[in-house]
Amino acid sequence: MIPGIDASRVPRHIALVMDGNGRWAQQRGLKRTEGHAAGEEALFDTVEGGLDLGLRWMTVYAFSTENWRRPLDEVRFLMRFNESLLLRRRDDLNERGVRVRFIGRRGGRVPKRVLRHIEDTEALTAKNRRMTLTFAFNYGGRAELTDAVRSIALEVAARRLRADSIDEKTIARHLYAPDMPDPDLMVRTSGEFRISNYLLWESAYSEFIFTDVLWPDFRREHLFDAVREYQARNRRFGGVDSGSES
Ligand code: IPE
Ligand code: IPE
Ligand code: MG
Repeated sequence: MIPGIDASRVPRHIALVMDGNGRWAQQRGLKRTEGHAAGEEALFDTVEGGLDLGLRWMTVYAFSTENWRRPLDEVRFLMRFNESLLLRRRDDLNERGVRVRFIGRRGGRVPKRVLRHIEDTEALTAKNRRMTLTFAFNYGGRAELTDAVRSIALEVAARRLRADSIDEKTIARHLYAPDMPDPDLMVRTSGEFRISNYLLWESAYSEFIFTDVLWPDFRREHLFDAVREYQARNRRFGGVDSGSES
């Protein structure tokens, strides 16, 4: 029981944009990379909060296809940091019944060793069902849709699919995680009001909550606040309020 939260209406899937690490560090006279390091505690407290809520799906934006534009030192730090975080935390996540998965392009500039640890972690936790924690890593919504279009085109060329049978379900089936439900709630920290190429297809009807809290300061209480706000909203999906039909 969490005060003010209706346990029967907890979102099925919450997606978070973990933003503001650099500014958090700058405010303290630290290097940007120290902000990323401080974000680890925020992430794992938020995961605990998700488990407290009985949340089934949580997705976090860890590295975008555009983040390669950052200075080489920061990119290198983020690759190593995400790898070591995985190695340090995966047994604990596994014991808690968390299935860890990754969405994003597997290849390109992502070091081979990091890819291997990603695959090992997915295999280690594959049978867990309490919560699925998905890392969007080397992820871009446009890249995901481009990859989907490419694989659909290949199926059409191989005559395994008819072009005139392509519908929304076909596209959804070709995304990185076809079994993942669309996020009900998207939370972005650090006072930025944009989507930054995150879950473009999947967020079509998500509720958005923006908070000024910088990611390293984010804790499970902030997640609970977001769920309370979510529960006060009225999702219409293009229809009309139930009860207001005449
Ligand atoms: C988010 O924090 C983490 C990543 C994008 C990897 P930022 O590094 O974007 O922090 P700000 O937005 O510069 O403060
Ligand atoms: C989005 O944050 C990506 C992640 C949090 C990993 P950015 O900080 O990269 O987004 P922009 O550049 O402010 O749009
Ligand atoms: Mg940022």
